[in-house]
Amino acid sequence: MINLCSSVAISKRSLRQLVAVALAGVIIVWLMFIQLYSKGVVEHIVDNGTQMEADQSNPVHFSEQTDADFYTDPYQLKDICNKLPETPKHPRGILISHKTSAEPLKIFIWRQMTYMDPQTDWRKESLTLCPFPPELQPFFDFIRASHVYGDQAVNLAQWEQGFAPCFFFNKNVPEWQKNQINTCGSSNLKYITTSNYTEFRDADIIYMDYPFYNYMAGKAPFWDVRRLPPRISHQRWVLEYGRESIANYPHVALPSFLQQFDLTMGAPAPLFDVPYPLLPVSEEMARRYTEVKPAFPVDKKPDNYVAFVISNCQPRNDRNELIADLIKKIGAHSYGKCQNNRKMPDDETTKGRPWEEVKQEVLAQYPYTLVVENSNCVGYVTEKIYDALAAGVIPLYEGASDIADYVPKGSYVPLENFKNTDELVKFMKEADRSEFYKWKEEIKADPSKFCKSCHQGKEPLECRILNHVHFV
Ligand SMILES: *[C@@H]1O[C@H](CO)[C@@H](O)[C@H](O)[C@H]1NC(C)=O
Ligand SMILES: *[C@@H]1O[C@H](CO)[C@@H](O)[C@H](O)[C@H]1NC(C)=O
Repeated sequence: MINLCSSVAISKRSLRQLVAVALAGVIIVWLMFIQLYSKGVVEHIVDNGTQMEADQSNPVHFSEQTDADFYTDPYQLKDICNKLPETPKHPRGILISHKTSAEPLKIFIWRQMTYMDPQTDWRKESLTLCPFPPELQPFFDFIRASHVYGDQAVNLAQWEQGFAPCFFFNKNVPEWQKNQINTCGSSNLKYITTSNYTEFRDADIIYMDYPFYNYMAGKAPFWDVRRLPPRISHQRWVLEYGRESIANYPHVALPSFLQQFDLTMGAPAPLFDVPYPLLPVSEEMARRYTEVKPAFPVDKKPDNYVAFVISNCQPRNDRNELIADLIKKIGAHSYGKCQNNRKMPDDETTKGRPWEEVKQEVLAQYPYTLVVENSNCVGYVTEKIYDALAAGVIPLYEGASDIADYVPKGSYVPLENFKNTDELVKFMKEADRSEFYKWKEEIKADPSKFCKSCHQGKEPLECRILNHVHFV
């Protein structure tokens, strides 16, 4: 029989020894880690043998986001994209106190969307692993669980604790740009961009995009904090929002979400500290639009008036009904997935050519095209209307109520002008189409007049952020 009392009755001296040994052990392990970590990238080849099993000891579960979440949301966010809340602007900007303006600021580009590339060969990429700080473990657990698709890929892509494929470390900053010190013209500020997770802690500014609002929960902070590292006190967080409409991510419009960042950037303009259009148009691009000739002769009667290539068949508006109506009433040609009745050309003449180019060629056989955004939201203007202008086709537009700030007046037909499809059909048949090309004269003379809100500044994105830096 073991005498429990005597076995736990350790003398004070041996207790001290025990604590000392334990402490030494912790320090040794810590030093080993520091050593490994400070080496930076160790080329770490993982055995891809079949004996490796998925690590089930610490599974990560994330809730699926569904449309139902939006509409049962306590914030009643359904139409928030057209009734944007007042967002108090950040008077602080980006305060930097641990560096002077003479030292380059390190901007960590933290993107996740690019990792969803289905072409990625995870088995191959998982052979070369790079170390990251331990606080990023939940993030990489999430990436592996959610983006390394398929049973086979997950089983093959085993990443040892503390390591992830170096692929991630190289993805967002091209090789030539690495360690390069750049300068912002007006302010003389110096900066380096990196996406090397080994250097995560050194970064002064963490630039986050899409992934970090991809998660929806009923209340602030509206993302899954479990996948984020603790915020280091000297680090400033910048959000970019500019790929999706607010209708898809309504919580992004809420001040409680936006105020988690030191600076925000994106579209729609009223919400963000630094407005940045979804599809920036440079003056050079604007000038090129003016050179496009009408695709279909304006004085010739077409056999078919209107065509479109639409592939998202679950819009957040009445687009599907409109498509059906146009097919029925004016024999519209639908080349996309939605109510398709025409095949995109797929032969020797189109092989290997950019999709946009082929699409524009197809549309150019008709005087009009239907341009209806996936959701009708302020500032949500996508490539669709610009594709039409590039093809020399007149866009029939429905979408952003402020579209007039994004393309020249008179370059498109607002669908809201018509009470029903019959009126629209009548218009298409009778209108003087030359009217829709007249805007080009004025813009040719001054391309800056192309739009009020679509222009891209000449400065790189990084400098638009750094313009808000204050050294204190
Ligand atoms: C990341 O940074 C570390 C430390 O500066 C460096 O040693 C390593 O080579 C970099 N990794 C990559 C993939 O560039
Ligand atoms: C690793 O994977 C490759 C490709 O499937 C295979 O040919 C090779 O034998 C594997 N290596 C080991 C050590 O199992």
